[in-house]
Amino acid sequence: PAINVNDSVTKSKFDNLYGCRESLVDGIKRATDVMIAGKVVVVCGYGDVGKGCARSMRSYGARVIVTEIDPIKGIEAVFDGFETLPMAEAAAKGDIFITVTGCKDVIRKEHMEVMKDGVLLANAGHFDVEINKPDLAALSVKPPFEARKNITAYTLANGHQLNLLGEGRLVNLACGDGHPTEVMDLSFAMQFLAMRHLLENKGRLENKLYVLPAELDQEVAGIKLKAMGFDVDILTPEQDAYLHQA
Ligand code: NAI
Repeated sequence: PAINVNDSVTKSKFDNLYGCRESLVDGIKRATDVMIAGKVVVVCGYGDVGKGCARSMRSYGARVIVTEIDPIKGIEAVFDGFETLPMAEAAAKGDIFITVTGCKDVIRKEHMEVMKDGVLLANAGHFDVEINKPDLAALSVKPPFEARKNITAYTLANGHQLNLLGEGRLVNLACGDGHPTEVMDLSFAMQFLAMRHLLENKGRLENKLYVLPAELDQEVAGIKLKAMGFDVDILTPEQDAYLHQA
């Protein structure tokens, strides 16, 4: 038996969203010291991480374009006030690109060829395959060089310089310290409770992948909330019966 901790609420809705909302910009700023206000930032993927990244960039005054493959996520982005465009259109508009899809080849040759001079390419998805690095190397007419620590500059035939941050690895970790502990504590507490649950239920669980039991997610959230000096209400017995009536 195993528990998929990654999809539990106290991980995905906090670490992914609020963690990235803070650590993405930390990674970009440490590597580049660039002004984000006034830039066009293209966020590829509007899942939990993408939502955090897009909101973060907007909070600095960037105009944010979202690219997606899921029309529902596309509407979400539009209703949140962002533009949703295919990458083929967004590629020529962006100043900063952030891939957070969990997919591969999200930014590839045909996109790189139409990008503006001096763009920043950053990935915050798990693997360094979202920005196609072999394409970047193949398009480069000069040997790539270190423009600054954690920035590799590629020069294309049209003279445009494309700047890859942290070798396309998770930018918040490659160029920064990752998420603050105040959000990682949720993930780690939840992982501990998941392990304890497996131990306490030894022999009673099937050899399959479980999701974290909802009450453990609730337990972690409740402890965290109290630790921050906040709390929620408890249903009266009458309210409980009303909500859970058949
Ligand atoms: P998610 O599954 O909620 O969102 C991914 C989104 O990308 C989905 O909406 C999907 O439709 C979209 N997508 C997939 N392929 C695409 C493509 N080719 N073009 C455009 N959109 C595409 O996943 P979540 O939680 O947002 O995580 C995204 C990535 O970030 C994962 O690789 C995850 O491991 C990583 N991650 C990174 C963290 C960090 O600290 N940098 C923290 C947590 C997760």
